[in-house]
Order: sequence, then C-alpha cells, then structure tokens
Amino acid sequence: MGNRDLQVVGEMPDQLLRHLTLRQLQIFEAIVRLGSYTKAAEELFLTQPTVSMQIKKMTDTIGLPLFEQADRKHRPTEVGQDIYRATRAMFDILSNMETSIAGFKGLKRGKFRLGVITTAQYFAPEILGEFCKEYPEIDVSLEVTNRDSVFERIKHGEDDLYIVGQMQDEPPGMVSIPFAANPMVVVASKDHPLANERDISFERLAKEPLILREPGSGVRDITMRMFNEHDLHPKVRMELGSNEAIKNAVVGGLGISMLSLHTLTLEGATGPVDILDVEGFPVQRQWHLVYSKERDLSLIAKTFLEFIQTKGAEIDVRMDKLIADFDLIHQERWRSLSKS
Ligand code: PGA
Repeated sequence: MGNRDLQVVGEMPDQLLRHLTLRQLQIFEAIVRLGSYTKAAEELFLTQPTVSMQIKKMTDTIGLPLFEQADRKHRPTEVGQDIYRATRAMFDILSNMETSIAGFKGLKRGKFRLGVITTAQYFAPEILGEFCKEYPEIDVSLEVTNRDSVFERIKHGEDDLYIVGQMQDEPPGMVSIPFAANPMVVVASKDHPLANERDISFERLAKEPLILREPGSGVRDITMRMFNEHDLHPKVRMELGSNEAIKNAVVGGLGISMLSLHTLTLEGATGPVDILDVEGFPVQRQWHLVYSKERDLSLIAKTFLEFIQTKGAEIDVRMDKLIADFDLIHQERWRSLSKS
C-alpha cells in the first residue's frame, strides 16, 4: 500500500492525542471495571499514588470529573461512562491489532477473558486448560459467578465470551450458541427411601424437603419454574450458595435437590449422591456460548469459540455415559429388590 492510499478520515483528536496516554486509559478502565483504585493498582502492579496521579492528569486533560464516590466505591460520572465505553472499544481494536501482528509472526498471542456461570466450573477449566496447551502464548482469565452476576458482566462487556445455561428468553443484542448438554437431575443421598423407587411422580417429589440454590442462580430459577408448571409449592428446607454445599447437605440427609448432572462429574455414579427416577427427568438443557452483537469478537475469542464447539460432542458423551452408569446401578438395585 503506497502512502497516497493512507488517508486520514475525519479530524485527528489533537488535544487528546497530545495529552492522554494509553497507560492512563488502561488505569481508568481497570478502576471502572473493578470499582476501586486499590484493586486497579493491584491488577496493574502499580502503587496507589501512581494510579491517583495518572487519573488526576487524565481528569485535567478531560476538564471534567471522571468519578464520583458512592457506597465507598468509585463510580464513573456520565462523561466517565462514555469514556469507558470508548476505551473498551479502543482496547478491543488494539487487542485485535496485537493478535494480528502476532499472527503475522506466526504466533497466537494476547489476552482472553471467559466469564462462566457457576455450574460451568465443572467443565470450563478443563477446556480452558486444553486450549492453553494448544496456544501457550495466550493469557487467559476465568471468572465464575452465578447467572445474575454473569448477566451483569455481559451488560458491562467485561469479558470476551460467556458460558451460560439455558435461558428462557435470549438476551437482546446478544448472540447465543448452544454447544453442549446440561441435563438437570433430581439428587438425593444413596440411602434415601426414594432411591429405591421407580417412576416417581412430581407430586410425590414435592412432599420431600428441598434444598435450593441462592437467588440469582439459573438452576434455582428452573427448579421454581418446574414447581410452578406443576402448580405445586416446594417444601424449601434451606438455601445454599453453591452446588458443592448442596451435595454435602443432600448426603447429610437434609433433603433432595435439583442440580445439573455436571455437578456429579468427579464422583460419578458410585459416589455418595444418587439421582432419582422422577417423571420428566433428566430435563434436557443446553450450555450456551454468549457474546455481544455490538462488540467484534477478538481473533482469540473466535479461536476459542471454534475450539470449545469441537468439545461439545465430548461433553455430551460424558453426560450420556454418566446417565448410563446410574441406570446400570439402578437396574441392579431394582432387580435385587424385586427378588427379596
Ligand atoms: P447457576 O446456573 O450456576 O447460576 O445455577 C446454571 C444453569 O443455568 O444451568
């Protein structure tokens, strides 16, 4: 390309180019995202006075306050929010530029942020590990939060890509791609009386004390929806904030629960948690990859998207095998019960 082809379109932002630095924008972006000067300083390996000084210089350049303090957190002002959006868009472009330059050098290098819903922690780290082995130059970060928090992160464009469970309505402005099975099952302890029964009705199930995930959890939503659809009220014994805590409570005989089958991946069918033979279960749900239509996916995010889609079939096989293992144990138990 000759120099004559390189035309500058529109005005160059002289004032900002002369006074604003990318480092200042990086610090500003981290403060908005993390809601704190201290956390931003930690993430960027800077001292707090450096962070404060750079933000002061940036505020002088802009000529308006960038932050206001609320609930002991630093929140961006209206102009701050505008600058944040523009900064994120600029960093996306820079990050693509970096990846593309690395691509010319034959490298896949850069940053990739994945945000996943709590229950996806049973498979996402493994896939991320395999991805890192294939692309060791890519610096990855994984954020695990419940459904409501993931949607907050999506709204603020905090990660490159997200893994969420089945959604009732597709969030507006988002692309959502189903890629693997996420069956939901009813769990109980191995010695629960219902573990010996077949074809348990939902009405019978509703009589058992139920352990529920915390508000904001996707699994909690679908559990409540199923009770609503059957016009029944669950007998909620307790609410717990993690799948692991629920499994322990179930094993301790505190009640039954509805969980994703993925939560039983490590212990398998021979572990202390059983799944009950309830009508309509397992409920077939899907994991979805989600990203914003407004933001161009980075080249690395596109690479990860393709990578994880090839893993979907492996996850499906793993889930089918787990169901088949439980089935085998149940068939044997029912056979021996019918003999005695
Ligand atoms: P949760 O969502 O981990 O927030 O409960 C999982 C799902 O929707 O399957």
